[in-house]
Amino acid sequence: MTANDGPGRLSSRMPLEISSVVHSFGDRSALDSVSMDVAPGVLTGLLGPNGAGKTTLLRILLGVLVADGGGLRWGGRPIAAKDRQGWGYMPQERSLYSAMPAGEQLVYFGRLHGLSRADATRNTRALFEELGLGDRWGDRTDKLSGGMQQRLQLATSLVHDPDVIVLDEPFAGLDPVAVADLSDLLRDRARAGRVVLFSSHQLDLVQDLCEDIVMIDHGRTVLDGKVAELRASSGGRQLRLTVGAPDRMWIRRFPNVRVAEQHVDELRLDLPPGTDPLEVLDAARAAGPVYDFGLELPTLSQLFLAAVEEQPAAQVVKEVERT
Ligand SMILES: Nc1ncnc2c1ncn2[C@@H]1O[C@H](COP(=O)(O)OP(=O)(O)O)[C@@H](O)[C@H]1O
Ligand SMILES: [Mg+2]
Repeated sequence: MTANDGPGRLSSRMPLEISSVVHSFGDRSALDSVSMDVAPGVLTGLLGPNGAGKTTLLRILLGVLVADGGGLRWGGRPIAAKDRQGWGYMPQERSLYSAMPAGEQLVYFGRLHGLSRADATRNTRALFEELGLGDRWGDRTDKLSGGMQQRLQLATSLVHDPDVIVLDEPFAGLDPVAVADLSDLLRDRARAGRVVLFSSHQLDLVQDLCEDIVMIDHGRTVLDGKVAELRASSGGRQLRLTVGAPDRMWIRRFPNVRVAEQHVDELRLDLPPGTDPLEVLDAARAAGPVYDFGLELPTLSQLFLAAVEEQPAAQVVKEVERT
């Protein structure tokens, strides 16, 4: 099922606005004034390590939890329970009826969202095709592989073609083919003008997928904006060179350029903002042959680490590895 974007849907193209949301569990703060806007048509990622507060924020957005403070608006108005009934939400804990056949299960969820049996069946067929569940209609849900069950779970949040799609860790545990399929699907829905927000702790897995991100850590926003701009403007760029000459004295002409790594014939140089990579490349070529080169932008996890560097580095690295 590709998203239906008939003219009647245009009025539903409304942004979600999350402002200064605060939440504590007992005396433990989980969200400390997190704000983000999710525009229709812009695939948006809520990123951060385990325990950052992502699930808590999504539960508040969906009305499963009530925030201690802050505001939630959709299309400029406070979000009402009725609005949320039309949304698609995939919680982090999966919840399917294990004995029910896969196709029937999805039709059932479509009916819960108010679709007629005919519409629910049609949308289920289309989603089964799109998600590669094609011939599993009659299989008991608990007989499907873990990856197939996850696709079915995802389908339950999409079967009614919602205007707002909120997915909590949809990529966790998926193999690379499933990651690619799900990425295509989310791009398709965003392109059709839906509000699409998903969370992930796998920062580098999703960096080519999301357009906008909000990165949180310990309940606070650490980075926020367009992925492309954040990566290009951060100053964390590296120039990689495969060189033939052992002489590296030429690097001294660039006092702000730092040698990040050097091997027999490979060099990695950190380029501070304002350094022209082509000038550095020219200097290397003047000193000897350059067989290969590339400009590498920092990954989202490197940006994350840089943004939280006031914390002890070892602790941060451990947290990222744990996730
Ligand atoms: N029901 C709960 N009771 C108490 N603490 C909770 C509860 N849910 C989450 N927390 C705590 O809130 C923080 C944020 O958790 P969560 O939102 O699940 O993070 P994330 O989804 O980013 O991994 C963590 O410290 C977590 O232990
Ligand atoms: Mg979570």
